[in-house]
Amino acid sequence: MHDSTIILAIESSCDDTAASVIRDGKIISQSLSSQLDHAKYGGVIPELASRKHEELILPVVMESLRNADTTQEELSAVAFTQGPGLLGALIVGTVFAKGLAHALDLPLIAVHHMQAHVLSNFIEEPHPEFPFLCLTISGGHTQIVKVKDHLAMKVIGQTRDDAAGEAFDKIGKMLGMDYPAGPELDRLAALGHPIYEFPEPEIDGLDFSFSGLKTAVKYFLRDQIKRDPSFIENHLHDICASVQDRICSILMHKVILASEQTSIKTIALAGGVSANSGMREMLEQEASSRSWKVHYPGKKYCTDNASMIAITAHYKYLQREFVTQEVQAHPRMDW
Ligand code: KG4
Ligand code: ZN
Repeated sequence: MHDSTIILAIESSCDDTAASVIRDGKIISQSLSSQLDHAKYGGVIPELASRKHEELILPVVMESLRNADTTQEELSAVAFTQGPGLLGALIVGTVFAKGLAHALDLPLIAVHHMQAHVLSNFIEEPHPEFPFLCLTISGGHTQIVKVKDHLAMKVIGQTRDDAAGEAFDKIGKMLGMDYPAGPELDRLAALGHPIYEFPEPEIDGLDFSFSGLKTAVKYFLRDQIKRDPSFIENHLHDICASVQDRICSILMHKVILASEQTSIKTIALAGGVSANSGMREMLEQEASSRSWKVHYPGKKYCTDNASMIAITAHYKYLQREFVTQEVQAHPRMDW
């Protein structure tokens, strides 16, 4: 006989099929199957993602339960990503979670994917203290979130066009890299120096823009290639370092402004781009000169995963925030 709370969490909002099991706030297993098939198309193909989720969801969930050394009968609740994300992909996880919760007569917990990215900072110790600001930077979103409590947060700045991850991916593609280009661009940037100056957008307030940078890089490459057809090959490391440096400085300047405006000095990162080494380095530098406390999730919790859904579900379970079987996937979910 035990009184533990054990929650199974499922994530299927984009191209990763993932499941995780959390016991009393501690992750005890996690499984992830990244759909590599999209790389050859240069981006995520929604129809293909849904089909792959359908194929992978049961094996991924079973593996996660097995690794947690637990069974369906021991579960206290089932959680899933309700949105935002690709509709077909979200439906696969939503329907699976609803079916399982219904069959086992368990409470059902719906999780907001971006809130879960923020709470990925609570998977491992030490946890950030409230209130804090979270720069949530992924392939689909770029936001500054003011976090008052685990389940009380507000977006105070966001991108007006491309997300930071999208900027890495689209510029990486111009440089001949496969999707997603972020990790490769990060690796190559470490071998070069930021010697090319790309412009920073002039946008008042806490919003971001990355489309101007993308266009500037495009014309810069076109002009340089006219002079030297092998320009990209010959200068790849410095180009990557310059692009990365500018993306990070655009992000950093808004975080500095947000910190000044709110007087909050605890800053967290979240989302796929928070795995970027240049971003972490720049944040550490600012932190030491501004006496900030900084937090970022372990690298495997930056990109999409189900443990962040599980930790969010843990806090929702404590508040008894459950949903009924009427719940539906929500591709453009608000906060
Ligand atoms: O959070 P995530 O896995 O998925 C979304 O919710 O979008 O973020 C994926 C994004 C991709 O754009 C990918 O290129 C970027 O995160 N990314 C990186 C790095 N690792 C992943 N960008 C820059 N540097 C990295 N090390
Ligand atoms: Zn994500």
